[in-house]
Amino acid sequence: MSKIKTAFFCQNCGNQSQKWMGRCPACGEWNTFTEEVIQREEKIAGRVTFGDTRSATPVKVSEVTFKTDIRINTHNEELNRTLGGGVVPGSVILIGGEPGIGKSTLMLQVALKCTGQKILYISGEESEQQIRMRAERIGTLNENCFILTETNTQAIFHHLESVKPQIIIIDSIQTLQTDIIESSAGSISQIKECASELQKYSKITHTPVFLIGHITKDGNLAGPKILEHMVDTVLQFEGDRNYGYRILRSLKNRFGSTSELGIYEMNDSGLREVHNPSEILLSQRDEKVSGIAIAAMVEGMRPMLVEIQALVSSAVYGTPQRSTTGFDGRRLNMLLAVLEKRSGFRLGTKDVFLNIAGGIRVDDPAIDLAVVAAILSSNQDSPIDSKTCFAAETGLSGEIRPINRIEQRITEAEKLGFERIFISKYNTKGIDLKRHDAIKMIPVGKIEEMYRKLFE
Ligand code: TYD
Ligand code: MG
Repeated sequence: MSKIKTAFFCQNCGNQSQKWMGRCPACGEWNTFTEEVIQREEKIAGRVTFGDTRSATPVKVSEVTFKTDIRINTHNEELNRTLGGGVVPGSVILIGGEPGIGKSTLMLQVALKCTGQKILYISGEESEQQIRMRAERIGTLNENCFILTETNTQAIFHHLESVKPQIIIIDSIQTLQTDIIESSAGSISQIKECASELQKYSKITHTPVFLIGHITKDGNLAGPKILEHMVDTVLQFEGDRNYGYRILRSLKNRFGSTSELGIYEMNDSGLREVHNPSEILLSQRDEKVSGIAIAAMVEGMRPMLVEIQALVSSAVYGTPQRSTTGFDGRRLNMLLAVLEKRSGFRLGTKDVFLNIAGGIRVDDPAIDLAVVAAILSSNQDSPIDSKTCFAAETGLSGEIRPINRIEQRITEAEKLGFERIFISKYNTKGIDLKRHDAIKMIPVGKIEEMYRKLFE
């Protein structure tokens, strides 16, 4: 009789415990512990080792040898950028995202485009025929791209030995299963063990591994969350399913900055890289409409211009409605209170609706001034000139505050043909005026001042 070893795992954060607990001490969630069989004793012998050749002797940091310029080009500029300039050999990259957002499409596209490297795409979700069908639709078939539909890690390592790929893609980590753990695929202990086997393989053979992981709407599904500390890079693929664009964000990166992001657009032939995000965020319009203001925002490190749309109308019911899409509702309430109390605009009895065009969510406080301008424009029904944009934060006393990366925002606005930009008057230091002769900067200190310069 073999001995069965079990443990309890929190399904929320992956915390392991010997006994059942009502509340997870690590994440504070209630009733999340479930029992999982972790191993039968006779199976420990089956653990993969790949003949570990790493020396474990201490060496001077200056004597560690490495090659510069070792990053692998994925031939996908947005992905390269998000990774900090390409894939580092021996790194494990987790790509998380909701089901249906386009993770498989992205990775298959990379596999097909990367002609210089031997790539193995391992799928536990789709059959070979399905993958081929998708591949024909989104790109040209690549002789160096191999497909394997297998979920058992021991079998996968067996194939890796013969194929010896230079890049491995696993779709998805939740479908993998290792022999040494008894519990079903997708359980915490399976995910942890499979990921650690792959990580070991990656570090020893210097092969980069992409792991695809599904997360739920609130981003809390145990799977990918518990992997975050095991992998080198965590990328999140997100976007609104009703809109075509997708954002690839770096949440953790041992080899680059986490403020980089990649932007894609999903269309019928796969994901298209978007090098100029403003093109999808600014709606094309001919006639002048009130309630529209353009903000120069920065997402990660990329400047882009977004269109803020506001609709202010007299409240039909007793309590005025405030509703936002893509913007924090409490921040809108704050800005309305500032307009009412500090600047004397009577908006207390008005319904206010605010929408960020393109369906993105913006947290950058630098769009405050554009929000205020859009509201005022709609309130008095006078359109704002379409060559004007805004970049400043609004404070509680109605003052217009400086923001970071102002120069970058001005340059972007200038590049897109804007002629005027409203900025904070405290933000003008350090701007090289000579460099921006195509755009006029309008420094303002208070909301009333902006109002006068805009509408009078
Ligand atoms: P998929 O990559 O399967 O998502 P994930 O692996 O993250 O679950 O993407 C599926 C969605 O993408 C599906 O709803 C259809 C859409 N799609 C397109 O619009 N065009 C395409 O060319 C492809 C391949 C998918
Ligand atoms: Mg998929």
